Amino acid sequence: MRKSNTSVAWKRKDLLDLESLSREEIELILATAESFKEVSRREIKKVPALRGKTLVNLFYEPSTRTRVSFEVAAKRLSLDVINITSESSSVKKGETLIDTAKNIEALKVDIIVVRHNYSGAAAILSRNLHVSVVNAGDGWHEHPTQALLDMFTLKEKLGTISGLHVSIVGDIAHSRVARSNIWGLVKLGAKVTVCAPKILIPAAIEQMGVSVTESLDEALRDADAVNVLRMQFERDSQDAFPKQLEYFKNYGITEERLAKLSKNIIVMHPGPINRGIEMSSAVADGTHSVILEQVTNGIAVRMAVLFLVAQANEYISKTQPHAAGSSKQPGERKIAG
Ligand code: CP
Repeated sequence: MRKSNTSVAWKRKDLLDLESLSREEIELILATAESFKEVSRREIKKVPALRGKTLVNLFYEPSTRTRVSFEVAAKRLSLDVINITSESSSVKKGETLIDTAKNIEALKVDIIVVRHNYSGAAAILSRNLHVSVVNAGDGWHEHPTQALLDMFTLKEKLGTISGLHVSIVGDIAHSRVARSNIWGLVKLGAKVTVCAPKILIPAAIEQMGVSVTESLDEALRDADAVNVLRMQFERDSQDAFPKQLEYFKNYGITEERLAKLSKNIIVMHPGPINRGIEMSSAVADGTHSVILEQVTNGIAVRMAVLFLVAQANEYISKTQPHAAGSSKQPGERKIAG
C-alpha cells in the first residue's frame, strides 16, 4: 500500500460522503483515527481536543451503533453532546429539517451529526449552515463513517487495503453502506465484487469500478474479506419467511461455505445482523468475524472525523466569517498529520 500522505491538509468543514473525497483525504482520516485509537486504551479515555464545543446528534431514523458511537467519540474529545430524535422533537409538529437545524445552530452548537431517510439531507444542511455537518447515513446515498470504520478495520487486520479483494454481499440496491464502501475501497486500490440476487443489484453499478456476480461461491472464492449487508425483509411482510429461508440457502454465510475457501477470509457486517438470514450465528460469533471490532473502531474513526471537521471549521470561521457550506474552503493550512 502507498504510504499515507499525512501532509495533506484537511479543508472541509463537513463530511458528507466518500465520493467527493480524494484518496489522500481518506488516508488522512484513517491515519488520524490510528492516533485516536490509542486514547481508548488509556485508563482515562479522554483528551481535551474539542473542549468547549458542542455536538448535536440529530437522528430521524433509528440507530444503535452510529448514534452511540458518535456520542462516545465526542465525549472522548471533551465535546458536550445533545441527542435529538425526530420522535421527541418538534419535527412531530411539522417543522422542516432546515428549520430544525437552523434553530439548533442558533443555540451556538458546533457540529450537527445527521441521519435522515432522505438522500442528500446532510448536503442540504451543509449548504444552509455555518456549523459542521457530518452525515450519519442519508437514505440510500451514503454512510461515510461506516465505510471509514470498515476500511480502518480491514487495514488493521490485513495491513493494507490496496490490492485486497473485498466482496460485498446482500442488498446492494438499497444500501448506503455499500455505496460508501465502494467509493472508499476503489479509491484506496482494493478490488471490489458485489454479490446479490439480480433484483438487488443496481443498474450500471459496474461504472463505480466493481465486478458483479449473482454467485456467492464466486464472490467468496478468492476474497480476503466479505462485508455482509442486512436484508430489509421487515419492509416486505408478505411471504417474508419463505423468502428468508431461500435467501439464506443461496446467500447466507455459513461455516461450511467458509471451510471450503482456500483463504482465511474476514467476515464483516455493519449491523444490525439478521442471524440465520445473512449469516449463521456460528459465523457471526466465530473466528472469522470482526463485527464487534468494527464497532470498537468506529469510535476512533468518528473521533478523527469530528476533530478534522471542527478544526477546519474553526479556521474557516476566523478567516472567512461569512462563509457557509462546504464549498467554502480555508487556505492551505496543515491541521493534522
Ligand atoms: N451500522 C449502522 O448504521 O448501525 P445503526 O443503524 O445501529 O446505527
